[in-house]
Amino acid sequence: MTAKIIGIAQSKGGVGKSTLCANLSVTLSQNSKVLMIDCDPPQHSLSAWYSIRDDIYIETGLDIKTASTPSQLNSIISSHKDEYNYILIDGAPHVNSLVRSMLLSSNLIIIPLAPSSVEIWSFNSFENLINEAVKYNKNLTCKIVWNRVRKRVKSSQEVMDQVNKTSKLSAFKNIISFRVAYMDSFAEGCSVYEWSDAVASAEIWSLSSAVKRVVSKLNAIKPAQSQSALNFVRKG
Ligand SMILES: Nc1ncnc2c1ncn2[C@@H]1O[C@H](COP(=O)(O)OP(=O)(O)OP(=O)(O)O)[C@@H](O)[C@H]1O
Ligand SMILES: [Mg+2]
Repeated sequence: MTAKIIGIAQSKGGVGKSTLCANLSVTLSQNSKVLMIDCDPPQHSLSAWYSIRDDIYIETGLDIKTASTPSQLNSIISSHKDEYNYILIDGAPHVNSLVRSMLLSSNLIIIPLAPSSVEIWSFNSFENLINEAVKYNKNLTCKIVWNRVRKRVKSSQEVMDQVNKTSKLSAFKNIISFRVAYMDSFAEGCSVYEWSDAVASAEIWSLSSAVKRVVSKLNAIKPAQSQSALNFVRKG
């Protein structure tokens, strides 16, 4: 097996990267082997979540490692890609060399986005970075996940429609709502699948099936090693 590499990245903090990484990883690990790589030093909130979880569950298919530099990230990927079906990478709250490196190493980049104007402003610059990354990782696929959506708020739908119309990046049809279960379950080392919110659990299952479907069609990534690719990473 060669793991499909899924990065969760955005140029903004607090958009739900770690929450989505944890929830997708638990769901995918129900019938596959999953490695998470926490690339968010010094916060390491995904690692903190995993260590709480470690006291509650005996994991069989879900492991975690941390990386603080692009070379650590690349070395973890190359030494473990044949042991796992999926590697999920949790990015930092701002664009740094690790996030740039993720863009060159991933099959799929998931971009969590809330339907609010303030988030859309910072998303535009991230979209430009992706356009640059595609020069070095030609097989890169990037998709938005609408997160923290309040379905009854009219402006949310308007913002989503606007981005769907103007952005070259497509969004998963599977939307993640704003639900307390996402906050509470994470704080207890759980996923929403292990929590008492059937709606949140169904949202994550459905997103995770869509993610599986997308990555199943993607070709393996050849690490970009040209000088210009290295310069792209170092710019962070
Ligand atoms: N769908 C959701 N509904 C409600 N709260 C959410 C949802 N997704 C994330 N949150 C909450 O939003 C906050 C930020 O989420 P999270 O830590 O996952 O974001 P992040 O992008 O990883 O942040 P950082 O950039 O700081 O690492 C957390 O309190 C989390 O519980
Ligand atoms: Mg985080």
